[in-house]
Amino acid sequence: MQLKTISDLLTQNTVIPEVEIKGWVRTFRANRFIALNDGSTINNIQCVVDFEKFDEATLKRVTTGAAIHIKGELVESQGKGQSVEIQVASLEILGDSDPETYPIQPKKHSFEFLRENAHLRTRTNTFSAVMRLRSSLSFAIHKYFNEHGFYYMHSPIITGSDAEGAGEMFKVSSLDPKNPPLTEEGKVDYTKDFFGKETNLTVSGQLEAETYAMSLGKVYTFGPTFRAENSNTSRHLAEFWMIEPEVAFMDLAGNMDLAEDFMKSVIKYILEHNREDLEFLDQRLQDEDKKKPQAERSDMSLIEKLNFVTDNHFKRVSYTEAIDILRNCKPNKKKKFKYLINEWGTDLQSEHERYLVEKHFKCPVILFDYPANIKAFYMRLNDDGKTVRAMDILFPGIGEIVGGAQREERLDILKEKMAAIDIPEEELWWYLDLRKFGTAVHSGFGLGFERLVMFATGMSNIRDVIPFPRTPQNAEF
Ligand code: 4AD
Ligand code: MG
Repeated sequence: MQLKTISDLLTQNTVIPEVEIKGWVRTFRANRFIALNDGSTINNIQCVVDFEKFDEATLKRVTTGAAIHIKGELVESQGKGQSVEIQVASLEILGDSDPETYPIQPKKHSFEFLRENAHLRTRTNTFSAVMRLRSSLSFAIHKYFNEHGFYYMHSPIITGSDAEGAGEMFKVSSLDPKNPPLTEEGKVDYTKDFFGKETNLTVSGQLEAETYAMSLGKVYTFGPTFRAENSNTSRHLAEFWMIEPEVAFMDLAGNMDLAEDFMKSVIKYILEHNREDLEFLDQRLQDEDKKKPQAERSDMSLIEKLNFVTDNHFKRVSYTEAIDILRNCKPNKKKKFKYLINEWGTDLQSEHERYLVEKHFKCPVILFDYPANIKAFYMRLNDDGKTVRAMDILFPGIGEIVGGAQREERLDILKEKMAAIDIPEEELWWYLDLRKFGTAVHSGFGLGFERLVMFATGMSNIRDVIPFPRTPQNAEF
């Protein structure tokens, strides 16, 4: 007898006299029908019990959440809702679940409640679908880069340079916080710390990835990154995963082409491979939508949105054009934006990004050529002297999903830009070396993995697309 997954069994259309399955009980109806799930698919398999054949004490232990082992015959289903079912011949309880205290009852739970039970929430349909999609997307990402000649590079998690400027950092130290060694000036003496210097958790693997691009040509990182800003929003995590390709001899136009092709490819992958999970999430969203007033309902279903991204060109718009559109748009003139757009040079907030994507262009947008002073020091200065070759990709419902740039490859200009914001050359000597020895045009971008998973699943809170979210005041589990 072969142990199969429920996913395998549900795609069988022949009778199999002996099958064996292990999983967790979702429901047990009328002392007769067990809905069993093993994580291999969103669908449960129906296991039919002839209660006269089993003692009452065993049947009592078939409760929601219990782990059980079933042997029986796979037959064509007598009832509606499934094509096959198992006629149970033997039933073994592997692990009991107390129905009084098991948090995941067979009913609708709020996402807030499930976040507090994040260790059990993947036993629900929604979260198991989301996490299977997360896994699939991450595979699709590696597959894309592998098939396009990229090497997977591991940037360090602990970094000695805090000059990326992408955000506040978490300190890494093994000093005793109550009694740290002090310098003569009374400051903490980090030369006595584990690494002999101040270190932090990385905010991005980009700078190290650049070093590898300048030898291996095409590389990407895919790892955890950390930001210590106190941003308690539905789109920010303190620990999130980022995908950062970096390519030698590629300019900003090539970077945009790569990002667009890459995003479309990974979305196509899940449309082909995760149909059932997507259909489930699509239906969930449509049901949610029906409860909303007409004006707030979305005009596309989840699967339509995904197809829309794969089928349409991302609109490429310069920052300057975007500012013109925003300055003259209704919500700006009627002072509906929280941050009004008055002049060229202001940074765009999420409300502006979403207006451009959702109301004005109604498709994914790549904004490029931003003012130098609102972007990072390493971005390539344009000949106008005031804009840089930056690009952000904006997605409907998400806002910024990708941030990237062509990098400044000219040593003198890079040094000037670092000096202007007081980054000591000693700190990034190795980064400057890339511009001294065989410098070349190169570009890359960072995709926030959780923002991609949000888009792909239609989940509206980033805390619900990562197994154990880390946010201000929260690091449970
Ligand atoms: O725009 P960011 O800060 O860019 C960088 O870090 C560059 N070094 C990337 C590169 O060029 N290699 O971050 C990139 C993306 C954002 O567009 C967003 O999707 C995501 O990372 N992101 C976050 N996701 C979740 N929580 C946060 N706190 C995030 N901050 C950025
Ligand atoms: Mg950004």
